[in-house]
Amino acid sequence: MPIGHSIPRADGPSKVTGAALYADDIRPEGTWYGATVRSERAHARILGITKDPAFDWTDVVLVTAADIPGENVLALITDDQPVLCDGLTRHVTEPIALVAAPTRDRALAAAKAVRVAYEDLPFNLDPEVAEGGAPIFGTDNVFKRITISRDGPVRGTTHRHVHQGVYTTGLHEQLYIEPQGILAIPPNAADPQLTIVGSMQCPYYIDKALKRVLGHHDYHVVQATTGGGFGGKEEYPSMVAAHAALLSLKSGRPIKLIYRRDEDLRATTKRHPGRVRITSTCDDDGFLLDWRADLLFDGGAYNTLSPVVVSRGVLHLTGPYRADRVHLTGRVVATNTPPNGAFRGFGAPQAQFAVERHMDRIARELGIDPVMLRRKNMFRDGDLTASGQTLVDTGAAAVLDAAIDAAAAPVIPPATTAGARGARTRLGQGVALVFHGCGFTGNGEAAIRGQVTIEAHKGILTVLTGSTDIGQGTDTIFPQIVAQELGIPLDRIRMAPHDTARVPDSGPTVASRTAMVVGGVTQIAARKLGEALGSSGDALLAALDGLQEPLSVTHQYTDDGSHPWNPETYQGDAYPAYGWMCAIVDLAVDLDTGEVRYHRLVTATDVGKALNPVLATGQIEGGALQALGWATAEEVVLDSRGCMRNDRLTNYIIPTTTDSPEMITRLVEIPYAAGPFGAKGIGEIPMDAPAAAVAQAIERATGRILDHLPMTPERVLGR
Ligand code: MOS
Repeated sequence: MPIGHSIPRADGPSKVTGAALYADDIRPEGTWYGATVRSERAHARILGITKDPAFDWTDVVLVTAADIPGENVLALITDDQPVLCDGLTRHVTEPIALVAAPTRDRALAAAKAVRVAYEDLPFNLDPEVAEGGAPIFGTDNVFKRITISRDGPVRGTTHRHVHQGVYTTGLHEQLYIEPQGILAIPPNAADPQLTIVGSMQCPYYIDKALKRVLGHHDYHVVQATTGGGFGGKEEYPSMVAAHAALLSLKSGRPIKLIYRRDEDLRATTKRHPGRVRITSTCDDDGFLLDWRADLLFDGGAYNTLSPVVVSRGVLHLTGPYRADRVHLTGRVVATNTPPNGAFRGFGAPQAQFAVERHMDRIARELGIDPVMLRRKNMFRDGDLTASGQTLVDTGAAAVLDAAIDAAAAPVIPPATTAGARGARTRLGQGVALVFHGCGFTGNGEAAIRGQVTIEAHKGILTVLTGSTDIGQGTDTIFPQIVAQELGIPLDRIRMAPHDTARVPDSGPTVASRTAMVVGGVTQIAARKLGEALGSSGDALLAALDGLQEPLSVTHQYTDDGSHPWNPETYQGDAYPAYGWMCAIVDLAVDLDTGEVRYHRLVTATDVGKALNPVLATGQIEGGALQALGWATAEEVVLDSRGCMRNDRLTNYIIPTTTDSPEMITRLVEIPYAAGPFGAKGIGEIPMDAPAAAVAQAIERATGRILDHLPMTPERVLGR
């Protein structure tokens, strides 16, 4: 049967042969190319936008805020971000105007020939002084504040140890391989509606945002083959889509708006830089009595998804550990940098890097083995989380044991590490333990009520969902779920294109929710279809082959009330299920260069149920490698205006296959009863653990204590 088997991914052949169409591969007749005129100032009044008279403006269309037919707002959580600056810019690279021309070179030249006159205003790039600094958002520059407190009796002991630490992480770029790109195609003989097609995670986010900008809903949104997202294509494509639509409206032509890599790096959202302060109290044996943590995120100039990111960040500020008393606070503030937004892990990686470094601090200062300290304090069944959720099916011990067991195998250093094998090389091993709330926080799923439709035509079932496959494999997994549920072969099941004209809104493709939550909705839709056809297995196949009239069944997520949540007090069940992960890294540090070479990464992850083990392993290994990049390589350097300086792949370094260590990836299966066949979300958890394990390994190798990411060679050397 399909579930639990590594069915080859459905999108594999088209990607390998080049048949798959990414946004830039789509070339409708008469397409013009768009380009964006961006702010060069961190905070300024815009006094005028003029065309350079020396430039030939024939065949060029210019769009400014005055051309927006609807509202100049990028609708998301709040309406603070404009689609195009109207008299004011709040960050460098902010879109001010748009141009389109028959060729890409002409469009780029025209964008350069647009002159913007500024009057500079005071600006602030430092989140530490955002509150009370230059006004950017509201009265205090705070996008969102969260407090979670759980009081309780503290175990009596006369010997108490207080530990304090500060842990920081920098900006982090998603670095999807395909840059942002959207086409807007005007109504034509083949399609009477405006079509928005391109690279995206969430077609229905664009659907909702465009309605406000255009003032009508006569369009549909189609996901093209998408070369990665990692959160970077959650909210940002709404901006690109709005711009392409505005240019198409003014020019009457199909418009292609594809970002260059340097533009994408400078202008689009990144992971929030974070600063976490932790003060803990424990007894002589290292049992945690009191845990107080405060998190500060730099949101950049607009709100985007920051309130939700800080919420998830604070909910993960204990890591997978219990304490008698917990007090967690967090806030995300406005500064004049480009806005930060969704990125795999959504605040939890920053929080748990800090938690794990703090556990290492306690272990170091008390002289306790770091693994033993984690064992003593890790969550067990019946423990309460910070929000007062009683944990069941807790996987902390299982993943820790599985990882330690797997790590007993000898480490085989990769052949490519010749440079890190000399006398001045030190080896180290590090361990980290994390958890991750799967799906939306609190009542998110109940509010969104995602839908999935399954259509039956003679001989074939088609799954219709707004959940996109961005490389993670859900277009393969959904048919597996349907095939398993109905007992029919996979080749009878198709996925419909992710086109808002066709598919229902299944909620956004985010938050480790697609396989677990939307997969669960898909399973029930399949069950309903089976009931409608009156059978399963071979009998259902016969009924399907004999089907005269098409049949369609839709299921919508319904909240069964089993996870009460109070969004005001942040008390209750923050997540329907938690994933658990342990990472053990072996590395070598070159004491002359500060370079870190990864020898091996062992992970054990509670996935609930591996629906497709190869795809699950791919998610975990890809995410873990991304986390190793965050740990030691990826550093965003801003200039004095808040503009990314290292905007090339030659100086923003991500790990490649040559940097990738041997990986031992254990899948632990503690089923989540309400997930499809027990599956939990696994998209984000691999981002949470590896960086802290690397810090511990560097500490063991060199004695150097690093509490800031990334741990670049300069920092490893203490320079
Ligand atoms: Mo994701 S970071 O929830 O798009």
